[in-house]
Amino acid sequence: MNSEYKNKINEHYAKQNLFDSILQSIDDAGLDRDKISRDDISSFEEFHIGGRDATRHLADFVQLEKGVKLLDIGCGIGGPARTLAVEYECDVTGIDLTEEYIDTAKRLTKLVGLGDSIKFQVENATELSFESNSFDIVWMQHVNMNIENKDKLFAEAQRVLKPLGQLVFYEILQLNDEPLNFPVLWASSQELSHLIDEDSYREKLENAGLVEVQWDDRTLFAIMWFERLAKLKQKKESHKLNLSQVTHNNIPEKVANVLQSLQDQKICVVQAAYSKRP
Ligand SMILES: C[S@@+](CC[C@H](N)C(=O)[O-])C[C@H]1O[C@@H](n2cnc3c(N)ncnc32)[C@H](O)[C@@H]1O
Repeated sequence: MNSEYKNKINEHYAKQNLFDSILQSIDDAGLDRDKISRDDISSFEEFHIGGRDATRHLADFVQLEKGVKLLDIGCGIGGPARTLAVEYECDVTGIDLTEEYIDTAKRLTKLVGLGDSIKFQVENATELSFESNSFDIVWMQHVNMNIENKDKLFAEAQRVLKPLGQLVFYEILQLNDEPLNFPVLWASSQELSHLIDEDSYREKLENAGLVEVQWDDRTLFAIMWFERLAKLKQKKESHKLNLSQVTHNNIPEKVANVLQSLQDQKICVVQAAYSKRP
């Protein structure tokens, strides 16, 4: 693995002692850390536009079945993995390149009473350790933007999928060549941002032996979600445990830049499912 790349991803995403900072914030909010539920951490545990609602929407979109073996690539601190394990009864494994996130994912999962029921491990999406034909679903939410080698990303997803499996994603793509204003949520500068346009993305999926089953544009949902969040903030009706500043730096500036890029039609948000070509 390119350790320089890993360091840069870790530097962008990780915060030192993240789990301890979360515990401290729980105490500061007057909550009992021994009685924390998934709902208490729902405002910050899913790092993608739309949070838990977007995860449920994607799961319903692909009619996710109970009991499937699911690999969540770029699982962050495990919010989506917990949603899929608890609400959709999936057998979930989450991988992420950011070590602090995997550590936090394991500890948060225990904190909300789910023990070791979800497997989390540090891995690079382009060099997976799993055997071929291992998963029914490979899941990805807001990860591709950090990965330059999408051919390898999709080849690995295709390889670890079982013959009737599906790659399911909710991702940000580029609509034109106009440069973004940085920082954005996934990158502080152009160096870590590897957006490509819809046609190139589709072509790379197909070249990896994946066939489109469904494709849906979610840009309007994304814009409306950011706008609703801003209104709630203005009215000071945010969630009791709003830890975005604990998990990330410069959130307001990053959110403003992403929202502006969506409104300016520089980027879009899509969700889709691809099956393995027979
Ligand atoms: C915007 S966050 C999304 C996290 C999670 N999917 C969610 O929705 O809550 C992007 C995640 O991708 C991870 N990531 C970036 N490049 C990666 C790679 N090459 N392999 C594995 N994870 C990667 C980052 O560490 C980060 O946790």
